[in-house]
Amino acid sequence: MIADRMRMIDSSGIRKVFDLAAKLKDPVNLSIGQPDFDTPEPIKQSAIQAIQDGFNRYTLTGGIPQLKESLLLKLEQDKKKSFEDIIITNGVSGALFLALMVLINPGDEVIIPDPYFVSYKHLVNFLNGKPVFVDTYPEFTISKSKLENAITSTTKLLILNSPSNPTGKIYNKKELEDIAEIAAKHDLLILSDEIYDLFTYDEKYTSICELYSKVLLISGFSKTFSMTGWRLGYSAGPKEIIQEMIKIQQYTFVCAPSFAQYAILNHLSYDMSKEIEDYKRKRDYIFNNLDPAFECQKANGAFYLFPKAPHGTGQSFVEKAIENNLLIIPGSVFSEKNTHFRISFATSEEQLKRGVDILNSLINKI
Ligand SMILES: Cc1ncc(COP(=O)(O)O)c(C=O)c1O
Repeated sequence: MIADRMRMIDSSGIRKVFDLAAKLKDPVNLSIGQPDFDTPEPIKQSAIQAIQDGFNRYTLTGGIPQLKESLLLKLEQDKKKSFEDIIITNGVSGALFLALMVLINPGDEVIIPDPYFVSYKHLVNFLNGKPVFVDTYPEFTISKSKLENAITSTTKLLILNSPSNPTGKIYNKKELEDIAEIAAKHDLLILSDEIYDLFTYDEKYTSICELYSKVLLISGFSKTFSMTGWRLGYSAGPKEIIQEMIKIQQYTFVCAPSFAQYAILNHLSYDMSKEIEDYKRKRDYIFNNLDPAFECQKANGAFYLFPKAPHGTGQSFVEKAIENNLLIIPGSVFSEKNTHFRISFATSEEQLKRGVDILNSLINKI
């Protein structure tokens, strides 16, 4: 009964962890992929107002024109690039799905730096494309030679995600220039997922959009304003691609939620510096207090660290952590390797302290 393409999607790894986790009573939870603060009050009020004002119907398929115009202006400032066109989508997942739907033919190769955000691999497989993983361990960077070696005559695009889920890595300007140089040589399209671009803690953030022209940007508000349930994202880039995405949106998602589009309209630049400062402190706390037995890169962005399990596989270490009441995610969910695990520091300081204590205690337990 079930279509063959479903065989291309496997969710067994994460399910096993969730099954184990379901048995815990009051776990220390460092597995959550969303901010622990609530949506800012003025944005909530604007959403309530939008609903009361009757903005409850379908919007135009591609999004309400005022939001599209304001976003294009903001992107021009933030990303130092003027984008030809934009579509408002159902979260970044909606943008990603539409983009891959319009771009991937069966057999097309998609270069994905490993570790990667989970959906990339599964969506490419779902469309009968071929994920080509570029191993970025241990520093999670992509060298020119690694990228060039991955490119073939059937390469369709490269997916970049900076700041990254699960590593928190931000590519610096030099790394991006290297990527842009190779991409330009092969006229490669780059799909850049910048959903965490507000969550940066050290140097100034550079987007690949500044350095390279053939980019399809996907981003959104789920993490920025902690509104993962509102389903609001967008994609900006070449008109030819965006127009095709609008065609498919018409027959699938229809439009992004109307109230959410109106609610965000006057808050695109809402100040989140206090929350970002908080997360920087939490990043520092966890990084500084994790036992040196954990090999770990200091994340510059997002709200994750991706340390190496001190012994065994990432999966076996996570199972041990769960036995000790700590929820974390095995690296194999985000990687072809099973050596690391993901910690989310989007939680309270008290949870973080308890989590670090459990992690450090596990080093000598096994
Ligand atoms: C890198 C990355 N891209 C996209 C998404 C999906 O975002 P949304 O909830 O807006 O669909 C996530 C969510 O965890 C993510 O980490």
